[in-house]
Amino acid sequence: MKTLRLWSAGCAGGEEAYSLAMLADMLLPERGGWNILIVGTDIDSAAISKARRGRYGPWSFRMVPPMLRRRYFRPENGEWLLDERIRSLATFRVSNLVGEAFPDPASELRDMDLILCRNVFIYFDPAAAAAVAAKFAATLREGGYLMTAHAELIGRPAPGLESRLFAEGVVYQKKAAVPRPLPGPFPAARAASSPPASGGAAPLEDARACADRGEFELAERLCREASAADPLAAEPYFLLAQLAQIRADPGAAKEFLNKAIYLAPRFVAAYLELAALCERAEELPRARTLRRAALGIVRGLPEDSMVEQCGVTAAELARWLEQWAES
Ligand SMILES: C[S@@+](CC[C@H](N)C(=O)[O-])C[C@H]1O[C@@H](n2cnc3c(N)ncnc32)[C@H](O)[C@@H]1O
Repeated sequence: MKTLRLWSAGCAGGEEAYSLAMLADMLLPERGGWNILIVGTDIDSAAISKARRGRYGPWSFRMVPPMLRRRYFRPENGEWLLDERIRSLATFRVSNLVGEAFPDPASELRDMDLILCRNVFIYFDPAAAAAVAAKFAATLREGGYLMTAHAELIGRPAPGLESRLFAEGVVYQKKAAVPRPLPGPFPAARAASSPPASGGAAPLEDARACADRGEFELAERLCREASAADPLAAEPYFLLAQLAQIRADPGAAKEFLNKAIYLAPRFVAAYLELAALCERAEELPRARTLRRAALGIVRGLPEDSMVEQCGVTAAELARWLEQWAES
């Protein structure tokens, strides 16, 4: 039996835990050989009761593709009720991250593959944040991931966790005996959808390493050096766009992504990143056009080639983008 153990810590009304459940349903429609645990915990018992109801108003759907709502919810009394099949995948309970001891071999809070703890560390003083991060590290299995929101743990890395920077936040991976590279923003290998190879790679590698460590200003300076050394390289602009998002400057991020696309018109990840930014700014037609352009490029790639900076194969990404286009 294969296992998947996912924890939404500080889950509020359960949206995050149910997002994991929907994702599990989409990625593993046949779950016969799987033992899947999805648990949501929160200190607030009212939030846990709401989570158990699985009933949401329009606000909870503001960033959700309509296709997902159609697939998994039905309208009831002006709200949307989550399909019982998905609701039953997640369990919820009250728990205080600061006061409770975990990992606990006698409870489900152990050997996690993924812990989501977003926008919760802001409630803790530095000592409590460090203690909770250390408990999370001990609760992950080797190679498991902890995801926080932007900058929540930057400056207080937890022992045993390695950080990786993504535009959407920081991901920490528990060091494994056999290292498992995280497919993600800064892979060393080049793929079919890479921007053209360019010189000046060394400062860019250093910039990625700095960004992964949370040294954003130095990362930005190194990106600019990489760009000056090779003005036609698209990758420094892609990284600059991620750094601009970290400092909450979507306008600059868009400019950098436009430059990356201008320099490397087949740079799929830059299209997708720009589409996400446009969507957040409610520029929906532009977002759609960008995703369609990305789909066109992805369809021209060998199916099993990895799409640079996306961490998935061309076939997988095409399937996702097709679903999106239908929604
Ligand atoms: C801003 S919400 C974030 C919800 C969700 N993670 C998200 O990003 O949408 C913060 C949640 O953390 C919970 N929380 C605060 N202190 C906590 C603690 N010591 N233990 C568990 N949950 C806590 C709050 O009750 C609240 O539901």
